[in-house]
Amino acid sequence: MYYDRLIFEISNPGRKGYSLPKSEFKEYSLSNNLQRNEEPMLPEVSELEVVRHYTNVSVKNFGIEKGFYPLGSCTMKYNPKINQDLSNMPEFSLHPYAPVKAAQGVLEIYYETQRILSELSGLHTFTLNPYAGAHGELIGLMIIKAYHQKQNDLKRTKIIVPDSAHGTNPATASVAGFDVVEVKSNMDGTVNVDDLKEALNDEIAGIMLTNPNTLGIFEKDILEISSLVHEAGGLLYYDGANLNPLLGLARPGDMGFDIMHINLHKTFSTPHGGGGPGSGPVGVVEHLVEFLPKPVVKKVNNQFDIEFNNDTTIGQISHFYGNIGVVLKAYSYLLSIGKENFKHIGGLSVLNANYIKESLKDDYLLPIKGICKHEFVFDGLIDKSSHVTTLDVAKRLLDYDVHPPTIYFPLIFKEALMIEPPETESKATIDNFITIMRKVAEEARTNPELVKGAPYNTVVKRLDEATAARNPIVKFRDIES
Ligand SMILES: Cc1ncc(COP(=O)(O)O)c(C=O)c1O
Repeated sequence: MYYDRLIFEISNPGRKGYSLPKSEFKEYSLSNNLQRNEEPMLPEVSELEVVRHYTNVSVKNFGIEKGFYPLGSCTMKYNPKINQDLSNMPEFSLHPYAPVKAAQGVLEIYYETQRILSELSGLHTFTLNPYAGAHGELIGLMIIKAYHQKQNDLKRTKIIVPDSAHGTNPATASVAGFDVVEVKSNMDGTVNVDDLKEALNDEIAGIMLTNPNTLGIFEKDILEISSLVHEAGGLLYYDGANLNPLLGLARPGDMGFDIMHINLHKTFSTPHGGGGPGSGPVGVVEHLVEFLPKPVVKKVNNQFDIEFNNDTTIGQISHFYGNIGVVLKAYSYLLSIGKENFKHIGGLSVLNANYIKESLKDDYLLPIKGICKHEFVFDGLIDKSSHVTTLDVAKRLLDYDVHPPTIYFPLIFKEALMIEPPETESKATIDNFITIMRKVAEEARTNPELVKGAPYNTVVKRLDEATAARNPIVKFRDIES
């Protein structure tokens, strides 16, 4: 099709998509050494061709504006456009070296966002410096290390990570220079407390818990886990990347956690994906505040200030104070939801996930029964006789304009299909998804080849995934040659 072509392919010499006003300035010639030797390779297209080309390209991709997006662990949550507009306001584009006096407004937003996150999570103080969830994890583990070093407790070189944790947890522990001790999950995906007891000793620096875990299950023994780890001299790190189900209902600080990170780009209104933008604020209990990275945004005598000097800080881990664009969106979101309404976010995300889980459990294999939080995992189709895999189901969903759930993660189940419906989806949208999922299960029974060959309605059909990943052709010239 004409509009499926690259803009270079619809280019015609001499065609123009612009008309510039006559220049008011005198002509000026650049010296030869500053001039190009040949014309730049630019497409020559008419105005309408440009508009139509990019409009068509923009709708080829899948986004929350186009359809339901139940991507477990990473779902695109509620991202009101007004927050984007606010963060684009030129008034917030301060130079990072602007004097503190001239930056009072922005500093107040940093400070207030830190304060609200503290209130929501029950942790004493937050830093907004980290740029992502995994970055926050690293800061958290550096703080754990600094704490034990200050106690001169140098043999604590190990971090416990349950096998149901998010993949970044063991990776971060290793990057921070700790050895990882894995603790197995119970049948219901929660931490096996007996295994944990065995793993605890005076070499353990702490534990990293993703709660709810990657199976969407809340750690029912959380209070026992937290006292066991503390009694053994370790600290507790909470991976709060997906805080939706807990908002306004439960706080990691009240469960005994010492450090946590939150993903502003998941729970607090920044669309994410494709590597950014992000922000992974880290919160700590009072006795760990001294280790927070610098600079620290503070309020002193009703003025906002930045503190750089602190002997015990783990140091500077970002260019300046953090990702202001993401912080602005989060701040606006926090204020617009309002303190008394956070509990509805938690309640609705849990309700939506459980409604889908219960509605589909006769077609899809549900290894972990019972109430889940914001997400849950199926282990592929129940009927495996036609050999239709989770990958096939995911591809077929694209034909029905649904973004596939997360697949083959967590690794605990072979055919994992991880579903997370955000709290803002209507019942009609969720019912439509349930109908489509049932339809795909029916197709898998009656016409498996149809599902195995999907997708049919997308620009790019079924790919050889290994070749696409290892040898992607992403340049126009490569296509030509
Ligand atoms: C539970 C959990 N922890 C940590 C992360 C890492 O966050 P980021 O991708 O911002 O580094 C994610 C992101 O997917 C997550 O879902």
